[in-house]
Amino acid sequence: MLVPAAAGGVGHLAVQIAKAPGAYVIATASPNKLDFARKLGADEAIDYTRGGLIRDIDLVLDPIGGDHAERSLKAIRNGGVLVSLLDLNDTTRALASARDIRVERISVMPDREGLVELGRLIDANKLSVHVAKSVPLEEAGAAHAFLATRPIGKVALTT
Ligand SMILES: NC(=O)c1ccc[n+]([C@@H]2O[C@H](COP(=O)([O-])OP(=O)(O)OC[C@H]3O[C@@H](n4cnc5c(N)ncnc54)[C@H](OP(=O)(O)O)[C@@H]3O)[C@@H](O)[C@H]2O)c1
Repeated sequence: MLVPAAAGGVGHLAVQIAKAPGAYVIATASPNKLDFARKLGADEAIDYTRGGLIRDIDLVLDPIGGDHAERSLKAIRNGGVLVSLLDLNDTTRALASARDIRVERISVMPDREGLVELGRLIDANKLSVHVAKSVPLEEAGAAHAFLATRPIGKVALTT
């Protein structure tokens, strides 16, 4: 599995959740975030700013969207899977279809079964949330501005 933006809010959880059942996980991130990605358990942590090609991946979880989703397809083997957290354009869908790549655009909706499983992973020390910064709810605007600096992990709003 390939996890782009592996040190981000979604990515750092995706790496841990994929590792828990034993997936081989390749993480990509900015150079200053690679050690963090390795500590999460990624089998390989790659600095995407250096270019290079990743090939023959079974599954990509794309948390970046736009043109990036189309680029992600190049890393996926024919018949693989692209899961995107953001909307996919028609070109990406057509290119995927031509190579028999299944495309899933997901919206995360918490449900009991999923939350129980996440709880199990936390209890087993296989999952933790890295909070880069906690910000009072009334300063949510500042939290958004901080996110734009691309921190590692999540920004928490406190009440
Ligand atoms: N569908 C859903 O249910 C769902 C759920 C949660 C989030 N989302 C969406 O998924 C996306 C990611 O969420 P997140 O919480 O992981 O975000 P985040 O914590 O802000 O992480 C985004 C990371 O993406 C990387 N990146 C690469 N190219 C980028 C670019 N052009 N602009 C900004 N960042 C770029 C950066 O890491 P590097 O420094 O390593 O490049 C950045 O830290 C957001 O758009 C969010 O709205 C969707």
